[in-house]
Amino acid sequence: MKKITKAVFPVGGMGTRFLPATKSIPKELLPIIDKPLIQYAVEEAIAAGIETLIFITSASKHAISDHFDPMPDLRAKFMAQNKSHLVEKLDTLPVKIQRVFIPQGAPLGLGHAVLQAEAMIGTDEMFAVILADDFIQAETNPLQRLITVAETNHSATISVEEVSDDRISSYGVIKPSEWQSDYTRVVDIIEKPSLKMAPSNFGVIGRYVLPQSVFSVLKETQMDNNQEYQLTDALNALMNSSGLQAVKLAGQRFDCGSQEGFVLANLHVAMQNPEFKSQIQNYLSN
Ligand code: G1P
Repeated sequence: MKKITKAVFPVGGMGTRFLPATKSIPKELLPIIDKPLIQYAVEEAIAAGIETLIFITSASKHAISDHFDPMPDLRAKFMAQNKSHLVEKLDTLPVKIQRVFIPQGAPLGLGHAVLQAEAMIGTDEMFAVILADDFIQAETNPLQRLITVAETNHSATISVEEVSDDRISSYGVIKPSEWQSDYTRVVDIIEKPSLKMAPSNFGVIGRYVLPQSVFSVLKETQMDNNQEYQLTDALNALMNSSGLQAVKLAGQRFDCGSQEGFVLANLHVAMQNPEFKSQIQNYLSN
């Protein structure tokens, strides 16, 4: 099997939960302290062996491309001033990593976004999908773990974690088979079920490794009631043909698509900085 070297980043969402900030800033550029969400996602991908980044964008998302551009003038200025710590901050992407931007055209859902990457993926090639607003802090690279399980089983592989009852209807939810250490074969998957209909409390989070065959499946998928094409429907079809595995996330995830998750993620990272930590502790104790 060909090595997995391409990752798709659907970044065409409107970020309505963060208006007015997202009028001019894509939600993927919102920072956790000083580093944008998309930068964290890209670093995770590169550390897992990804060499080609495929961004599925919408109009007015040029800032994401700008973020990964080298800034030769500023770089030269910092170099001349011997400010190497600032030069490092400008290096948002290693030179050998290729970037591709594909416009989504219309906001027709995650399944539709992934379908736009079809021309970039070869026959029998597997690829990753990363949703940057699922911000993950983990010892083991979450995408790397998915890739290993996908390569072992030669099938689509997704990341899951246990979610609380009140949040279950915001996720794709799986029915696991028997767990083998941290992963299981999926025997059912439903997009955003009611608590009553949920087949377990394992919600799908924004890391996927998919086979090229997902594109033909996506083309057969029907729009849902919100006029969107859901990736979950395609995953359901793959589950019944070539199989679907789910890996339990080992790490902490923050849903930065929500304001609450975004604030907690910032707090979590701030607390890792000893200087901030004492200030935050002081602030909270007062
Ligand atoms: C999407 C997927 C859903 C998944 C979630 C993870 O939903 O459709 O299956 O559980 O991402 O973040 P969205 O958050 O785009 O509504």
